[in-house]
Formats: sequence, structure tokens, C-alpha cells
Amino acid sequence: MTLSADSFVPRHVAVIMDGNGRWAEQRGLSRTAGHKKGAEALKKLLPYMRDKGVSYVTLYAFSTENWKRPPEEVRTLMDLFRSYLDGDITELKKQGVRVSFIGQRDRFPADLAAKMTTLENETKNLSGFHVVLALSYGGRDDLVQAVRRLAARVLGGEINIDDLDTAAIAGALSTAGIPDPDLIIRTSGEQRISNFLLWESAYSEYYFPKVFWPDFTPAEFDKALAEYALRHRRYGGL
Ligand code: IPE
Ligand code: IPE
Ligand code: MG
Repeated sequence: MTLSADSFVPRHVAVIMDGNGRWAEQRGLSRTAGHKKGAEALKKLLPYMRDKGVSYVTLYAFSTENWKRPPEEVRTLMDLFRSYLDGDITELKKQGVRVSFIGQRDRFPADLAAKMTTLENETKNLSGFHVVLALSYGGRDDLVQAVRRLAARVLGGEINIDDLDTAAIAGALSTAGIPDPDLIIRTSGEQRISNFLLWESAYSEYYFPKVFWPDFTPAEFDKALAEYALRHRRYGGL
């Protein structure tokens, strides 16, 4: 029996979209130009991922640590997110894509936070393809928030200490209800997790292409899929 190619397609792909700044610097352009180019790369890639049979895509676009960047870069990133939510994301919504956000929403300007909540509400009943944007997201912060939520439930007498198990923790994270990522791609050649999906990545496969994010084309994604298809996931078993 031959397995269909679909058997090897990851259900959930998470992406650390890294290297926009270096892409721009190599061309003598501003870092902002790199971020813009990165948004264009994403626009081409998402429909391609969906056509390939991926069901969930989580995109790391801004970490809890990225607030440390120069205020000017943070400001231009906020402007870019704003126009991305108004433009490309609204387009995705029309195509029936579910969009949600993980991360510290309250740290964003009020209009941006409101847009995120509106988009989530408007698309929450859509299924088939689910795009999760990680904005001001940090895996450690997400665990802190989960611990606080669970502690409050224990203190309120709703649950007991013994009820705190892996399922309870997974259910208290911002990614509750989303399957763990099968494949995590980080572009730009860096080989680290940088505080992304710490809990959820326990058994994820990693792929580290050298290309900077603006150069991550559908053809590059095909290479990632080919590599993923060769991996043997054992989950600790034999
Ligand atoms: C990733 O690209 C985008 C964000 C973190 C917002 P970088 O901005 O980190 O680009 P490099 O790593 O400096 O090249
Ligand atoms: C990770 O990239 C975060 C995003 C891509 C959004 P960084 O560029 O912030 O990570 P480090 O600083 O190289 O670890
Ligand atoms: Mg970077």
C-alpha cells in the first residue's frame, strides 16, 4: 500500500518569521522595508499552505521581548500590523479563514487590540483553515498567565490541586483547543526558539532554512514539507 502524500502534511505549522531586518540591511534598505517585504511573503504563502492541506498556521510576528527594540521600529511595526489587519487579514476573512491572536493584547494601542478582538469574533465560526497570529507573545508569559488562571480557580474552590495535570495546563494556555504544532519553521539560519510555544513544542519537528523571511517562498515551503515527510516521530516510544 502506498501512503498518499497527504499523510505527510503537517496539520499545524508554526513559523518564526525571522530575518526581515537582515534581508533589508543586505540591500541597503531600512529595516522597515524588510518588514514590509516580510508581510508580502506571508500573503503569498498562506493560501499555498492551505492548498497543501495544512489546517493550522501559527505565525510569530512580535515577541514579548521585541518591545525592547528602538521605539521607531516598534512604531513602524504597529503601523504595519494595523494595515495588515485592515488589508490582508480582512481579505483572508472573506476567504473563510478563521483568524485568532495569542499574546498580550492589552499592550497594543486600543484601536489595534479592538481590531484583533473584532476579527476573532467575526471569524470564530469559520473552519477549514485557522491562522493564529502571535503578537506580543512569549511562551513564558503565556505559562505565567495560565498558572494565574488555574491558581484563581483553585482558590475559588472550583478545582483541586490534584486536578492540575497536563490537560489542565494545556487548557489554560492561550493556545487551548489548537493542536500542538507538528512542524516549527524558523527562517534566517538562527537555530533557537526565542520564547515561542514552549509548552506546545514538546514534540514538534524543527526546520531551520537559511533564507531570510522575505525570501521564504512557496518553493521554500515545499522543501520544508519534503524534509518533514522524512522525519520519524516517535514521541518517546519505539
Ligand atoms: C523578524 O525579523 C520580525 C520581528 C521580530 C518583528 P527581525 O526584525 O528579527 O529581523 P532580523 O533578525 O533583525 O534580521
Ligand atoms: C523571534 O525573532 C521573534 C519573531 C520572529 C517575532 P527575534 O529576532 O526577536 O529573536 P532573537 O532576538 O534573534 O532571539
Ligand atoms: Mg530577528
